[in-house]
Amino acid sequence: MRPLKIAVLISGNGSNLQALLDDTNGDPHLHITLVISNNADAYGLQRATQAGVATMVVSHKDYSTRDAFDNALHKALTEHKIDLVCLAGFMRLLTPAFVERWRQRMLNIHPSLLPAYKGLNTHARVLADGQKTTGCTVHYVVADMDAGPIIAQANVAVHEDDTAHSLQQRVHEAEHRLYPQALRKAAAALPSSQS
Ligand code: GRF
Repeated sequence: MRPLKIAVLISGNGSNLQALLDDTNGDPHLHITLVISNNADAYGLQRATQAGVATMVVSHKDYSTRDAFDNALHKALTEHKIDLVCLAGFMRLLTPAFVERWRQRMLNIHPSLLPAYKGLNTHARVLADGQKTTGCTVHYVVADMDAGPIIAQANVAVHEDDTAHSLQQRVHEAEHRLYPQALRKAAAALPSSQS
């Protein structure tokens, strides 16, 4: 049985990518095969190279439509025989057609306890609402943003003196623990014909 081939899609720093690389390093069953960024300057590309993982830049600026961009992503993923896709700070919305092609095979991590606080600026909104608890969620990607079936969540307490920045840092630490666990859970749930 060959290892499951995983692609990670990023746009920036890639600290969640790093957590996934560290967790799967040397694993005979899970292999991060490809890292794709839509942004050539993403620091996560350096993390991937350092870990010996192939990288690709697929810039949305090179495609006139979202369909064309998503087709280029799909081509790269199928050429590398990818089984599972992890979005990790990938800042592009994907078309319903692309999402359907990767249904049950594409995960995303979001910095809130979904279904609360979908979208951007989650930490500032959590603080403005006076919430005592927030957290992070890994979910399957569906056409609606941040709305897919939840795979795993972790709670993070909100402190009285938290700023959006301090809260983001603690949620990020929780993300780095959660994403590898959720990836393993999703990998175990894949149909056996793919592994
Ligand atoms: C994380 O907070 C993740 O939840 C969100 O984007 C951020 C990516 O951070 N989707 P990093 O690039 O993994 O450091």
